[in-house]
Amino acid sequence: MMEDKNTLNPELLSQKLVEEDDEFHHVNNPAASIKPIVKKYLGAPVGATQKGNKFFFTDGDAKVEVTVVTDEIIRVRLAPHSVFLDEFSYAVPKLENKKISLFGLREEETEYIVYTNIVNCHVRKKDFFISFSDNQNHVTSSDAVPMHWEENIKFGGYYVYCTKECRTDESFFGLGDKPTEFNLRGKRLKNWNTDAYSFAWNQDPLYRSIPFYISLNEGIAHGIFFDNTFKTDFDFGAEDPTKTSFWAEGGELQYYYIHGPHMMDVVKRYHLITGTHPMPPLWALGYHQCRWSYYPESKVRMVTKTFREQKIPCDGIYLDIDYMDGYRCFTWNRKYFPDPKKMIKELADQGFKTVVIIDPGIRVDDNYAVFKEGKENKYFCRRCDDYFMEGHVWPGRCQFPDFTNPEVREWWGGLFDELVQLGVAGVWNDMNEPAVFGNGTFPDDVRHQYDGHRGSHRKAHNVYGMQMVRATYEGLRNLMKNKRPFTITRAGYSGVQRFSSVWTGDNVASWEHLKLGNIQIQRLSVSGISFSGTDIGGFSGEPDGELFTRWIQMGTFSPFMRAHSAGDTKEREPWSFGEPYTAINRKFIELRYRLLPYLYSAFWEHHRYGFPIVRPIVLQEQQEDGNQFRQDEFTYGDKILICPVLEPGQKSRKVYLPKGKWYNFWTQEVAEGGKEIIVATPLDTIPIFVKAGSVIPEYPVMQYVGEKEIEEVKLNIYFSDTEANSFLFEDYGETFAYEQDIYLEKKFVVKGKENKMTIQQSMEGLYTPRYENYHINIIGLPFKPTRIIADNNEVKDFVMAADKSVQLKLRKNFTQLVIS
Ligand code: GLC
Repeated sequence: MMEDKNTLNPELLSQKLVEEDDEFHHVNNPAASIKPIVKKYLGAPVGATQKGNKFFFTDGDAKVEVTVVTDEIIRVRLAPHSVFLDEFSYAVPKLENKKISLFGLREEETEYIVYTNIVNCHVRKKDFFISFSDNQNHVTSSDAVPMHWEENIKFGGYYVYCTKECRTDESFFGLGDKPTEFNLRGKRLKNWNTDAYSFAWNQDPLYRSIPFYISLNEGIAHGIFFDNTFKTDFDFGAEDPTKTSFWAEGGELQYYYIHGPHMMDVVKRYHLITGTHPMPPLWALGYHQCRWSYYPESKVRMVTKTFREQKIPCDGIYLDIDYMDGYRCFTWNRKYFPDPKKMIKELADQGFKTVVIIDPGIRVDDNYAVFKEGKENKYFCRRCDDYFMEGHVWPGRCQFPDFTNPEVREWWGGLFDELVQLGVAGVWNDMNEPAVFGNGTFPDDVRHQYDGHRGSHRKAHNVYGMQMVRATYEGLRNLMKNKRPFTITRAGYSGVQRFSSVWTGDNVASWEHLKLGNIQIQRLSVSGISFSGTDIGGFSGEPDGELFTRWIQMGTFSPFMRAHSAGDTKEREPWSFGEPYTAINRKFIELRYRLLPYLYSAFWEHHRYGFPIVRPIVLQEQQEDGNQFRQDEFTYGDKILICPVLEPGQKSRKVYLPKGKWYNFWTQEVAEGGKEIIVATPLDTIPIFVKAGSVIPEYPVMQYVGEKEIEEVKLNIYFSDTEANSFLFEDYGETFAYEQDIYLEKKFVVKGKENKMTIQQSMEGLYTPRYENYHINIIGLPFKPTRIIADNNEVKDFVMAADKSVQLKLRKNFTQLVIS
């Protein structure tokens, strides 16, 4: 049994309370026979009632609400003395109006069943055990003990617990950014946003709280989202291999059961309730260069100039805390940056978008406008005895806005006015766990407005960072009018993806961290956070050229690609390590830009349909035994498989390819999937495979987004003898016109036979791209083409290149291409 004084072990705790209970004496107390509440379990339910899509069960004292959210999602809530908390969630902005086809309540001899046409929620009459099954009566999740709770004598409210059966071969995924193996089976983990400088493998908790996991058992998946912002714990068979438990130090026992059976269904449905990332400006999918810090201005200009001289594409340039005056947010150090507007404009003319850092700590200084305004309006957090919450961060003594107050969020959003006027394109939200030097974070007794639902820091801690970046995003969105803002945050809670991208925090320049980063990005991706990246190269410590290059190669396939380094390290730009590294780094960053339309389309699939961008192998092939332990390979979108090189000096490595045919991206050789293969890994490549039948759109290499008018989009079409679909999404790339349906969704269907191949294109939407033609590049055609017909017209002008690829030009709105 694991014992940790910070961890609430349900059994030990109840024992402790019982002991204390024994000492509880009061002479002549008429209420002496009333025992204080110790751990309490639901008793047998005595009845069921219905109100719309909500069903209520009670054991005479406690009440349980079962809500049918959609055909596949059911929410369970527990009220220990029948009083539910207000219906409010930062993670789930809107629960109503989701599609439900059919639902009802059925009473049977041994149980009540709340059903939809897809799932059943069973409430057992004997003991209030809750379980879920599908419409084939396959039980996917069952309580191992009834839901239970303990009174929290110190703060009021309850510790709340749920314990489910953990099956022998059950695997667990999710929970955000945990720095550990991808499969969480056998682990106990905590959610409490923590500034974790140079974190280590297995260190827990880190920066984010995503209390959502996916279970996979016998090839069938379901998800549990425990929407509770207090400190939460998850135990996946660690203490007892037959039990999975989750519990919180306060708030409500409220969880969503999210049906599969595919992991992908679970992830999509989790997105349905917590939202997806809005479309980013296209430039934000380019390469970003960051450092703590680039200053003064001459340094920024030197770095950006070198990018252009070296012909290494780059879109984002970052200003870390030293751009400010004494680290006061929303000010400038005029000695270092005498004319920020001029600098930002000139950087923008060279294609660089300036991103600035903002921290939540506001320096206590009556001569500082932001502090004065916050103080006058009572926007800063207070302790329970009404002192201000004060703590030290970069600027020295600070107070902290209460971002859980909508009025404060609005004020904060407005503070970006000047930065937006100066031309700042993005805002980096840091230290928002919140981090405080010395004590780590705020004390528990700090009070928060919590959007009118009041709470101590115990309740608000895990959402503080999310509400900060929400305020930033909403403010920028307002100020930038129809332009898409770019934001990045360190801390977050479920749903943070509606407001921001994230990076994994202060990692280390080590091979172990390269591995960890690879797992963290995949984990974040199945936990609702697709737009994420690591500090490429490692934040602290010194990478050598090889490690940096291997990290650039992996980072090319992180949805967010940024190199960053701590102030006490050597220079860390893509050219810092000399040759051959510079050339390889350039080649990969160029590849990032070539694949931008592909990544942008994958982003659209995420935004619109809830597909994650990075997809672990088990997400694609959950039936295959062994895949639940794979954590190196992943696909980028659904067509390109990536296997980063994670060891120094590695000349070749094993790569698992899911079933089907795959093309080696570099050699165009075809490999049969469903097995592991050995792939050479010279320093200038990593294993990249493209699924047969894919249409991979490609832009010409640009030094930054918008450098050139796109005159032609290349379509790399990989022959397949089975039918395959691909998508291409196009729009303006920087406005919200897509919300008014001004975009184009193109679908390609590729079908191949031994002597014929057809490619069909269909499109939907109101956007017209400015280019006229595609450059078609057909790879792997198994025959020599003699006749090519595009929409009934013969194409005479095609060539078969030395590598056997077939090249031709085609009007962008063709509907059918037949090659025979
Ligand atoms: C924190 C951030 C890091 C940043 C530094 C200075 O450590 O995680 O990215 O560079 O603060 O602002």
